[in-house]
Amino acid sequence: MMDEKILQLLRESPSDFLSGEEISRRLKVSRTAIWKGMNRLRTQGYEIEASTRSGYRLIRSPDLLTPSEIKPILKTKWMGKTVHHFHSLDSTNSKAYQLALNGAKEGEVVIAESQEKGRGRMGRQWFSPPFLNLYLSIILRPKISPHQASLITLMAAIAAADAIQKFSGLLPLIKWPNDILLRDRKVAGLLNEIHSEMDRIHFVILGIGVNRNLDEKMFSKEIRAVATSLKTEMGQAISRKAFLRILLQELEKWYTIFMKEGSAIILKAWRDRAHIKGRRVKVTSFGEKLIGIAVDVDSDGALILETAGGKRKRVVAGDVEYRSQR
Ligand code: BTN
Repeated sequence: MMDEKILQLLRESPSDFLSGEEISRRLKVSRTAIWKGMNRLRTQGYEIEASTRSGYRLIRSPDLLTPSEIKPILKTKWMGKTVHHFHSLDSTNSKAYQLALNGAKEGEVVIAESQEKGRGRMGRQWFSPPFLNLYLSIILRPKISPHQASLITLMAAIAAADAIQKFSGLLPLIKWPNDILLRDRKVAGLLNEIHSEMDRIHFVILGIGVNRNLDEKMFSKEIRAVATSLKTEMGQAISRKAFLRILLQELEKWYTIFMKEGSAIILKAWRDRAHIKGRRVKVTSFGEKLIGIAVDVDSDGALILETAGGKRKRVVAGDVEYRSQR
């Protein structure tokens, strides 16, 4: 808290020095406490110039995703106005779930620099090394019925794909239900968890993981062939802060559209991004393997598959693999 306040003061006068005396007067703490705070900030990567005559000046901030780094750059109206930041967590989704049970508001965001037990879909792990990627969870309290909850997933996939496109100029594709691909490799994934009654959603936790500054060689052999990062695709390291700003903006925009205008617009945008209609796919759903032609997604976001013999199947959860057309 104290360090955040020091940073706030230093940021208010970016080109001027601020004397230790002035800072200690404004924060009502001793000069020794200020000096200790400056040292703590330096160990976090803040470059702070100190002069015995003039005081302190902030030269450069690290690419941390702390509230004090994020808040000044956010362009949203309500999403991300409260950010809970952690250096390490089991999983941002689990933390957000706890916070939501305790009454956290719609739009509150949990961010971790690393996850010990990052969770992926279908019980898988999500590779979550420190500082390189983005791991965040957003608390939403949509006024829709529980059977429509998977549309939140589609909505978030559109927002994440749009954010990636705006940020990188590349053209991401969505793979049902919510993998974001660049050059057919996964760059981002979404894990949504819902807390509801039969007819009412209490909250949805929207978990997003984006591979940003990972190098190919950092992935394990198994995931190397199927995963990529923004850095790999763009050929340069990217600012996590700058990307987060666009991502939250797009999420707020698409969520507002969904809540105001309903599902049709979401389904259309999703179809435009997914190009799944008419493709031959293999779907693994609850241990069952199905091969067929993807007909469409229905109004609840389920995948409609036409299997051999012309039978139609509705798939609500699973993994899709594209097969060569025959
Ligand atoms: C997938 O399998 O594609 C979904 C991956 C979702 C990973 C994110 S990282 C932030 C949030 N916290 C988690 O434990 N998982 C999600």
